[in-house]
Amino acid sequence: MENRVKREKIKVLNKETEISAIKTLYDTIWVYSYESEIEKLLDLYEKAKKEQWNASQDIDWSIEIDTEKMALTSQLPPLLFQEIWEKLSEKEKINLATSQISWIMSQILHGEQGALLVASQLVTCAPLYDEKLVASTQVIDEARHVEVFHRYLTQKMEKEFPISPHLESLIRNILSESRWYFKFVGMQILVEGLAMGIFGTLEQFGEEPLGVQIVRYVMKDEARHVAFGVLSLKEHINDLPEKEKRELVEFAYEGCVALRNRITDMSMVWEDVGLPTHQMQETVEKSPIFQEFLILMFSRVVPNLKKLGLLPDYIRPRYEELGILKFENLEIPF
Ligand SMILES: [Fe+2]
Ligand SMILES: [Fe+2]
Repeated sequence: MENRVKREKIKVLNKETEISAIKTLYDTIWVYSYESEIEKLLDLYEKAKKEQWNASQDIDWSIEIDTEKMALTSQLPPLLFQEIWEKLSEKEKINLATSQISWIMSQILHGEQGALLVASQLVTCAPLYDEKLVASTQVIDEARHVEVFHRYLTQKMEKEFPISPHLESLIRNILSESRWYFKFVGMQILVEGLAMGIFGTLEQFGEEPLGVQIVRYVMKDEARHVAFGVLSLKEHINDLPEKEKRELVEFAYEGCVALRNRITDMSMVWEDVGLPTHQMQETVEKSPIFQEFLILMFSRVVPNLKKLGLLPDYIRPRYEELGILKFENLEIPF
């Protein structure tokens, strides 16, 4: 997939910086009622205020990361890359493992910036008072996530990767969408749900203590963000006209395709370490372990789509093709 996003260089405070501008047209909603419409959202707002943490104080940044040891003792690469891994030299193994963890963390960092931008839009476009309050706590949460992953990458890793074109195109779609409930589905259910799946997998299988510590803190915030999406959308989605609901079903499906590609397409890593992209991609995608990971990562997205009525029978075969339906009936808090 080609990254066709137009970037431009602008001068800010006498320094040249690269940006891309996203044209967005949506209504900013001023509310006149300060009454709570969805009581559980106020509980979430209280919880968010109590659970604030400080990335510069609460994380033990003195933990050093031994990428060499990590690469050579990890159980995962040999399982994922099978025979290719065995043929690599020690140096190549270290290089590949380092690139991979940097790529994973870089995509998380870029996703967090996307979440920060969308959360700021939710404050203005959400139609209820309590939604605005909860969204405002999400803004500071996402800022903290950007801070923590940026610090991890710049202080503990040797490499950083640009944003995956699949992730960038999805987040730009969410940002430029004019309807607020599309933004909610795109960010709170899809991107946040997938983040919960990725963090859960990293927490369970991660072998690097600093990364695991960070992920535990971030997951507490992300769980609230997913809950916010489900609680709000549950109240609104049934009122939508059938045509809009169908559009939303399609939007959610296309979002899942983009997120699946964002996980699967690791061409940046293969190019970085000089391994044959096509062959490596095929090996990973065919790996039964990778398929299991993929399902696990979507285990917080698909059940919520079903709960919200965004997984009707007519779309199920397309989800089946994506191979992510296994946990559709999983009982999750949100
Ligand atoms: Fe986040
Ligand atoms: Fe979030």
